[in-house]
Amino acid sequence: MKIQIRPENKNDYKIISMVNDMAFGQENEGILIEKLRKNRKFIKELSLVACMGNEIIGHILFFPIKINSEKESFESLVLAPMSVIPELQGLGIGSQLVEKGIAKAKKLGHQSIIVLGHEKYYPKFGFKAASEFNISPPFDVPDQVFMAKEILPDALKDIAGCVEYPKEFKDL
Ligand SMILES: CC(C)(COP(=O)(O)OP(=O)(O)OC[C@H]1O[C@@H](n2cnc3c(N)ncnc32)[C@H](O)[C@@H]1OP(=O)(O)O)[C@@H](O)C(=O)NCCC(=O)NCCS
Repeated sequence: MKIQIRPENKNDYKIISMVNDMAFGQENEGILIEKLRKNRKFIKELSLVACMGNEIIGHILFFPIKINSEKESFESLVLAPMSVIPELQGLGIGSQLVEKGIAKAKKLGHQSIIVLGHEKYYPKFGFKAASEFNISPPFDVPDQVFMAKEILPDALKDIAGCVEYPKEFKDL
């Protein structure tokens, strides 16, 4: 099965929301993406779609966030949300989206990525518990589901603090 991964364009907006609605079985994530798109920090090169022929069957978004220590603030990205239509889950499409997304983020000069997700899924892409980098979530979640990845070696070595999500995530 040949999958093509490319940045979103204007014609994709509606179908991206639909793919997210199908994958999550609710409309919250599609609405979140639409709200984030209106935020000036949205990076369209980091909103990637997976296509099979002309059909969009998956999507991943990386959005800028901050890691705040008492004195400083550091730029990072959050991986969220991510979706593959239910009929095609478990075939490696999600993994291709993550890998392509990380490569694209690196190319654009980003240094690290945060994700709140399944503890067995993300470590294969190099994510570790964020607590290993002294990075904490702004909400109460089990330690192992809040993860961070250094895109560049030691990118998080001298960074510690609490992650600040964009306000749009608070309505999720
Ligand atoms: C999570 C998701 C994007 C993965 O895409 P995918 O194409 O199915 O992923 P892959 O085929 O690359 O990987 C499949 C692996 O993901 C695991 N997986 C499937 N759904 C998962 C989920 N919700 N959380 C964590 N792991 C999941 C499978 O067990 C499988 O594990 P394995 O590789 O050890 O066998 C897709 O399953 C999905 O859209 N789920 C619903 C939406 C969701 O939960 N998104 C993630 C939170 S933002």
